[in-house]
Amino acid sequence: MALVLAENIGRVALLRLNRPKKLNALNAALIGELNAALDKAEADEKIGAILLTGNERAFAAGADIGEMEKIKNYAEVCEENLITRDWERVTQCRKPVIAAVSGYALGGGCELAMMCDFVLAGTDAMFSQPEIIIGTMPGAGGSQRFARAAGKAKAMEMCLSGRMMDAKEAERCGIVARVVPAGSLQRVALETAQKIASHSLPVARMIKESVNAAFETHLSAGVQFERRLFHSTFALADRAEGMRAFLQKRKPKFKHK
Ligand code: CAA
Repeated sequence: MALVLAENIGRVALLRLNRPKKLNALNAALIGELNAALDKAEADEKIGAILLTGNERAFAAGADIGEMEKIKNYAEVCEENLITRDWERVTQCRKPVIAAVSGYALGGGCELAMMCDFVLAGTDAMFSQPEIIIGTMPGAGGSQRFARAAGKAKAMEMCLSGRMMDAKEAERCGIVARVVPAGSLQRVALETAQKIASHSLPVARMIKESVNAAFETHLSAGVQFERRLFHSTFALADRAEGMRAFLQKRKPKFKHK
């Protein structure tokens, strides 16, 4: 059985984590399939955005605890290069990646969602960093991305207590971009991804680079970087087409060039 179901819908690559009996717990095989699907979507010139989702019960309930329990000690986990080896492929995607979360996004599942460009959540979504409950700690960026999105107080409370937060709280504290009724999540997420994919891909890539730079640079360097990218859009046929189409009161026909 495929652990990641991939389907192209127009210019959107829809990737669905598919290990339902284990609440989409992230094991090595699933991560391998996810990375292969991301590689394919990135290489496909007909794809303009990637939508990553799970099922109604779980986006993903974390790293596979059964798989991790077999690792004997520090030397072995370092040798395996757990997480670093291949978990962060999604952060290297140059196309926009949206996470649509229903049900549980726990531990590595919450971390995977936060690696995406933004998260849309159903009202039934639950987020947590519960690793402390099983004697470990976030290992796929949870303490760092939670702190950057939600601030120190929330990150500390969530990672130290291991409690779950619901979708509304996750939206209030900046983990989630938008909450929608659970039954509408898939439709809204697909429409959002399709809208993004209809824009100029090179511009979308520049916007990703620019927003991500905000987390790596001080303000004046970030603004300077943004200014140069903004100027760079004037080298694109899509920029000329977009402005011309607006003035001619018609929809732009982007060539992604
Ligand atoms: N790893 C492996 N298997 C998991 C799993 C995980 N993270 N989460 C759930 N499962 C499995 C359960 O073992 C169970 O399998 P079996 O039917 O074969 O026993 C199946 O999924 C269904 O789960 P439950 O019966 O437990 O369902 P529930 O509704 O009673 O509880 C839950 C749901 C609260 C999410 C509970 O499953 C749970 O607490 N899961 C673990 C969550 C967790 O600790 N995640 C963090 C993992 S560590 C990590 O992610 C490290 C990192 O930062 C990279």
